[in-house]
Amino acid sequence: MTHVVTENCSQCRFTDCAVTCPVQCFHGDGERLYIDPEVCIDCNACIPACPVQAIREEFHLTPEQEHWREINAERAKDLPVISAKQQPLPTAEARRAELGF
Ligand code: F3S
Repeated sequence: MTHVVTENCSQCRFTDCAVTCPVQCFHGDGERLYIDPEVCIDCNACIPACPVQAIREEFHLTPEQEHWREINAERAKDLPVISAKQQPLPTAEARRAELGF
């Protein structure tokens, strides 16, 4: 099993999740982060760290979120590991408010 970064990460990219990961399974581009399912150990540490609840356990994905499982697996392969806190995107606070968090 794995955890999956879903749609709420887009326009946010807060990166609080990455610093909680004991196995460095987060990878990122300029838009968002992705979890490598081959590395994630399902420790759950990242879930409460995300201010916009973007991360879900794979068995809690809704049907509309299922596609994020493959996107995370594919994108994580090609992108660098992110394990330190970075500046959120300039749109992050507005997006957080829009999402109701
Ligand atoms: Fe994205 Fe939340 Fe992490 S917005 S970068 S999943 S803390």
